[in-house]
Amino acid sequence: MGIINKLSDELVSKIAAGEVIERPASIVKELMENAIDAGATTINIELKNGGIDLIRIEDNGQGMLSEDARLAVQRHTTSKLHTENELYDISTLGFRGEALYSIGVISELEIVTRHKHEDTGTIIHVRGGEVVNTSKTAHDTGTTVTVSNLFFNTPVRKKFLGSAQSEYRACLDVIDRFVFGYKNAGIRVINNGKEVFTIQPAPLEARTILRIDQGLKNKLYDVSFDNGILKVDGYISDPDYTTNSSRLMYLFVNGRYIMDKSLNFSITNAYSTALPKGRYPVAVINLFLPHNFVDVNINPTKTAVKFADKSMVYDAIRNAIRDSINKRAIVYASPDPGMDKNRFKEEVKEAVESYRTSFPHGSTTSTGYATSKKTRIFSTPYGAKPGVSMNAAADDQQTILQTGEFSALDILAQFNATYIVASSPDSMVLIDQHAMHERILFEQLLKNSQVRQRQSQFLTVPQEIFLNENRTSILADIQDALRTIGYELTTGRNSVTVRAIPAGTVFSPLSLIELIDNSMRADGPSHTELTADQKTDPLYRIMADVACKSAVRAGDFLPVEKIRALFGQLDQLGIPLNCPHGRPFVFLLPKTEIEKFFHRR
Ligand SMILES: Nc1ncnc2c1ncn2[C@@H]1O[C@H](COP(=O)(O)OP(=O)(O)OP(=O)(O)O)[C@@H](O)[C@H]1O
Ligand SMILES: [Mg+2]
Repeated sequence: MGIINKLSDELVSKIAAGEVIERPASIVKELMENAIDAGATTINIELKNGGIDLIRIEDNGQGMLSEDARLAVQRHTTSKLHTENELYDISTLGFRGEALYSIGVISELEIVTRHKHEDTGTIIHVRGGEVVNTSKTAHDTGTTVTVSNLFFNTPVRKKFLGSAQSEYRACLDVIDRFVFGYKNAGIRVINNGKEVFTIQPAPLEARTILRIDQGLKNKLYDVSFDNGILKVDGYISDPDYTTNSSRLMYLFVNGRYIMDKSLNFSITNAYSTALPKGRYPVAVINLFLPHNFVDVNINPTKTAVKFADKSMVYDAIRNAIRDSINKRAIVYASPDPGMDKNRFKEEVKEAVESYRTSFPHGSTTSTGYATSKKTRIFSTPYGAKPGVSMNAAADDQQTILQTGEFSALDILAQFNATYIVASSPDSMVLIDQHAMHERILFEQLLKNSQVRQRQSQFLTVPQEIFLNENRTSILADIQDALRTIGYELTTGRNSVTVRAIPAGTVFSPLSLIELIDNSMRADGPSHTELTADQKTDPLYRIMADVACKSAVRAGDFLPVEKIRALFGQLDQLGIPLNCPHGRPFVFLLPKTEIEKFFHRR
């Protein structure tokens, strides 16, 4: 007997729905797309438990005729595509005719809508793909879609959902894409009955500042380009305002948010060496080009596109950003920054005022990450006291410097402002200053987390930092961990006030913001030092991040007293050099090897 069978229609629908609807955020995306396609200028989003319990999206778009509403929930039904030719000239966000149907298959879906040309509205109720009820009702022009009981008939899917907080954050991420892609749409978000934010139509730079970080004020450059076919329009951050992931680089094609690694590269490439390695700017780049120059039918979630001429797009972005950075450099150099800045300030002020949520004044003191390049190499050897004779076998490098011997090393020089050159009686010792300091701080934080009496240092002035809702939500999850290692903080609705930080660490509003962002990623740049188990624990991720951010950097000049103090700490902490995590920070070149090289042996 053959082994192939035909899948039931029901199963086929569920499989297809799974491609489009993965989590609440996918529903928010599809419903917001529909609202925008219907010409909505106001979109209200209501969530319960991050969308797991309820998603309701209300728009003031054109609404649906009663007969269309009945069709809209069927499979492969759309008003946006009629012929194959049109498929290559799509001007709407939707075109596949499957979003509402897919949502209906895996939830309870209610649509209430009234078309501008009809007097009464229509209600349609769908459960698990079946229309269970339709009736008439009064409704304003526009559409309200409510999704509840999500994944009730696909329990495995339900099990794979994240916590209410993480689903909530994913929804906010998706909503922000519309905030940046459609600056003329007013958007309001409510979660669990509380207003999260309301944003009025506002210039893109103001929206960027409001939704990403108030520390971006005066740090955004405007990007524009137009060759008659392709128009590029957007904002990028000053090279001294960077983050360590590409998460805050937003790209839109005719309003559609897309993910495209090579275009992301065109952005970072434009900064050239102004961007430190492993750092990414904030960028919101809108591309506009004729619809038939872009193929949007690439994947089911519609977040990738194909360009008829990708290199034109790549070059345009890169050149526009390059111009923008160069121009800005000239403005900086001129004695009077002139009108431009004032106009910018006014616009931001207006937008901030129209932003109804009341923020505390928050951080404006964003500090950048440009490291000071005070390269200096010790010209004379330090501490040239004769070493104690120590004839240990030089071949086992791991054991030589294990026990309290850092303080006994003779410090000779700092090479390339990155490595400490020292000597023990029978070896030359090279130490990576950043890796060493990072390790010391990590061990200290670990110790701090294990004692009752935390070692904290108080800030002279408590720092209040503005956080967007996404970060407020992450902070709620990690604030205990932060306190455990010595932070003293109080959280407000859209802010956090920091009073004290762990002893020996450094602090800046931007570094705290990054810490919050990184604590949710398992693979942050500073997490590579952690063991697999530690990577899954936010406390370890936070400690690794704080240690990395507070450590001296490659390129920092280190006075010999500072080096001595660090060596003392290393000995005190008794850090084993052959520990399973942490990258190596000591390189030993035994005298015997040196002698071999010079043919003395
Ligand atoms: N909020 C809305 N306002 C007005 N009409 C809507 C709204 N939502 C859906 N529709 C209508 O219902 C149809 C089906 O919507 P659905 O999202 O399922 O498909 P689509 O948007 O055409 O394509 P896609 O599956 O790519 O999103 C739309 O083509 C549109 O005519
Ligand atoms: Mg749609």
